[in-house]
Amino acid sequence: MRTKISALLASQQTDIEVVAKGWVRTKRGNKNVTFIALNDGSTINNIQIVAESANFDEELLKKITTGASLCVRGTLVASPSSGQPVEILAQQIELYGAADPEKYPLQKKGHTLEFLREIAHLRPRTNTFGAVFRIRHAMAFAIHKFFNDKGFYYWHSPIVTASDCEGAGAMFSVTTFDISNPPRTEQGRVDYAEDFFAQHTNLTVSGQLEGEMGATALGEIYTFGPTFRAENSNTPRHLAEFWMIEPEMAFYDIDDNMDLAEEFLKYLINYALNNCDEDLAFLEKMYDNDLRERLRFCVADHFCRITYTEAIDILKASGKKFEFPVSWGLDMQSEHERYLVEEHFKKPIMVTGYPKEIKSFYMKLNDDGKTVRGMDVLFPKIGEIIGGSEREADYDTLVERMVEVGVPVEEMSWYLDSRRFGTVPHSGFGLGFERLILFVTGMSNIRDVIPFPRTPGNAAF
Ligand code: 4AD
Ligand code: MG
Repeated sequence: MRTKISALLASQQTDIEVVAKGWVRTKRGNKNVTFIALNDGSTINNIQIVAESANFDEELLKKITTGASLCVRGTLVASPSSGQPVEILAQQIELYGAADPEKYPLQKKGHTLEFLREIAHLRPRTNTFGAVFRIRHAMAFAIHKFFNDKGFYYWHSPIVTASDCEGAGAMFSVTTFDISNPPRTEQGRVDYAEDFFAQHTNLTVSGQLEGEMGATALGEIYTFGPTFRAENSNTPRHLAEFWMIEPEMAFYDIDDNMDLAEEFLKYLINYALNNCDEDLAFLEKMYDNDLRERLRFCVADHFCRITYTEAIDILKASGKKFEFPVSWGLDMQSEHERYLVEEHFKKPIMVTGYPKEIKSFYMKLNDDGKTVRGMDVLFPKIGEIIGGSEREADYDTLVERMVEVGVPVEEMSWYLDSRRFGTVPHSGFGLGFERLILFVTGMSNIRDVIPFPRTPGNAAF
């Protein structure tokens, strides 16, 4: 049995026989001794393997190059050099697989993130992506822990659905055909039928609508799954396939919703600070000098809460020249959001009371008849990290809104049942998982925080 390198490096015991397995990061040495830095993904740190030339076949040592995979048996000893607590004096080395230095693309240090995106299938083997994906895991675990500790149930909304939660337009359509005998066009190409077993369906843009059915039965639920948006936007903040966490709570009003969103984000950031320090320290050194300071700053104080109307007034009074116009009724663009967060308030803010025209049909209408109880959470460097609302619980008002914006009332009859029968005030929000990971890792492109990013023209691997 192997011991993970993270455990070996933390071992209190030395002069014991151990087995380590992993991939070679670097090899150096002279004709008497070879030093191999071995990594197995359990930590950003490598363990040093010391192989004395006299004990090993020269051919074997030659084949041990960057990227090769090894099984090493030896003695764990205190390391004479200061960079590491322990090292392994190798007795036996088995080469699982060589990695031809002429062909293995991760040879030299210091590849650009752009280059690594072209080899997304191999980049988890780099220090940067090891750190990012370990943090991504820690955040996923913390999300489940947070909600489980609060008595929320993990709820599975469907991926394939006939409804359009956000009414945002572009969706991925799901088609079916018999693979052994697909319909063909006159030119002989596969003719993709426009339906899912004779019903038009798409990949979900959000699990919220089905999540509301969970909340109005189980009380408090959360979804955590992949969601899809077919918008053709090439930005550092948008993916066509992203993961979303959507808590939905019966008996919560918009203020309860904001309290939960703030507590949730602070919990996750604190979790990262307390559990991912080595990886955060590495990313800070490499990419973002202020990373941990910014994380600590964001959890130290209350998030600012303002209305959309106040936000527009601040933007107008700023005297700043924005590319997009600022006017009550228009959606805020990311330059506006970033001005508010980074230059005006200099901390996370939550904006409520948006004009109903720029928000989804399900948001609760305020008494003014003009604004809705939507809330966006805006973060430094990210912009919108959460979008949510109190939901319209009144059947008639909701139907009126659906008709106004053209949501098919008949098809959504199942959704309206939650308002027909035993309707309750309820609220929820959606946290973009990759936007959270962007914030916590300090990375600047969303393509660098998900193993296989899906963006326009990018689905090969
Ligand atoms: O603001 P959005 O569109 O809200 C909803 O989908 C609601 N149904 C959520 C709810 O109330 N249950 O999306 C929520 C969050 C955004 O704030 C953003 O963090 C993220 O999802 N998001 C994206 N992340 C990456 N790529 C995209 N294309 C994204 N679109 C939204
Ligand atoms: Mg939004």
